[in-house]
Amino acid sequence: MNIVVFGAGAIGSLFGGLLAKNNTVVLVGRHCHIQRIQQKGLRIKGKTQKLIQISAIENPQDLSITPEVVLLTVKSYDTEAACHHLRHMVRDHTMVVSLQNGLDNIEKIKEVIGQKHLIAGVTTQGVLFEEPGVVTHTGIGTTLLGELDGAPSERLQNLICVFNQAGLHTQMSTDITGEIWRKAIINSSINPLTAFFGCQNGYLLENPVLEKIVEAICTESSIIASHEGIQVSPKEMISRTKEVIQETALNSSSMLQSIQQGKRTEIDSINGALMRKGLGKNIDVSLNRILVELLTSFYSIK
Ligand SMILES: NC(=O)c1ccc[n+]([C@@H]2O[C@H](COP(=O)([O-])OP(=O)(O)OC[C@H]3O[C@@H](n4cnc5c(N)ncnc54)[C@H](OP(=O)(O)O)[C@@H]3O)[C@@H](O)[C@H]2O)c1
Repeated sequence: MNIVVFGAGAIGSLFGGLLAKNNTVVLVGRHCHIQRIQQKGLRIKGKTQKLIQISAIENPQDLSITPEVVLLTVKSYDTEAACHHLRHMVRDHTMVVSLQNGLDNIEKIKEVIGQKHLIAGVTTQGVLFEEPGVVTHTGIGTTLLGELDGAPSERLQNLICVFNQAGLHTQMSTDITGEIWRKAIINSSINPLTAFFGCQNGYLLENPVLEKIVEAICTESSIIASHEGIQVSPKEMISRTKEVIQETALNSSSMLQSIQQGKRTEIDSINGALMRKGLGKNIDVSLNRILVELLTSFYSIK
């Protein structure tokens, strides 16, 4: 398959690097990372250890293949701009596959690219961007891919095969929208709380006050999801969130890492989006609102 990874940072470099084993892959990313890959190859450290020679470009206009798949791996605040940059690559049968976190990516991609091209995904793979040319695979996880209507289409099954052949454990979801929401609910407490308190994930369950706050945020976010027609129970989401906290106790969340690096966070696509979905529905959105306000007022970056 011809695959373009648009936004080759942490997750895009891992997926692109592994997919390059059996496919023609081109990474599209920023100058320093791309230049280092062109000079010395892409190094993956940690749970996967590889040095991969792979095509990498900065300017999407320099693309010399016609992609069957465009893997979209920019942060959610870059989705709309990225879609405009990659639109020219999309032919009638091109699939645009999002592995991003956040509740607003699908709408943005649909608007610019069109729904028929879209395959949505979530992944529990963990990757850190170490330095230009180098990413660390920190956690081996599972990727779920699905058509928005839940159909087990042939193109989806082919794509899942291609991912599995690359060693990326991947399954089909017939409820990918629900999966995106469930991940956002889990992230809605872990990410902003760890970012604000500057702690590793595990501390959220070591501190009884923070544990209660996790439960309250989970409940609020689950009720918002239910009003959007997503089948979730607050009790199940609290227990799933606590499992994730325990499994990732020693990790720094992506939002904490962004704050520490002085970078923008994805809070607007997680808590901000939850808050906007709940507004006007006569349900409480105050915790998600407070988290957005706390993070945006204490750190001048969003
Ligand atoms: N990392 C993980 O373990 C993980 C796991 C699951 C899901 N996710 C989700 O996956 C998405 C990506 O996360 P990530 O950690 O891989 O982020 P990341 O390391 O910041 O990678 C995104 C890359 O895309 C680049 N980019 C943005 N706009 C671009 C453009 N127009 N042209 C070329 N490059 C562009 C960014 O460059 P600049 O930073 O210079 O703008 C950055 O290098 C997020 O939604 C995240 O929540 C990540």
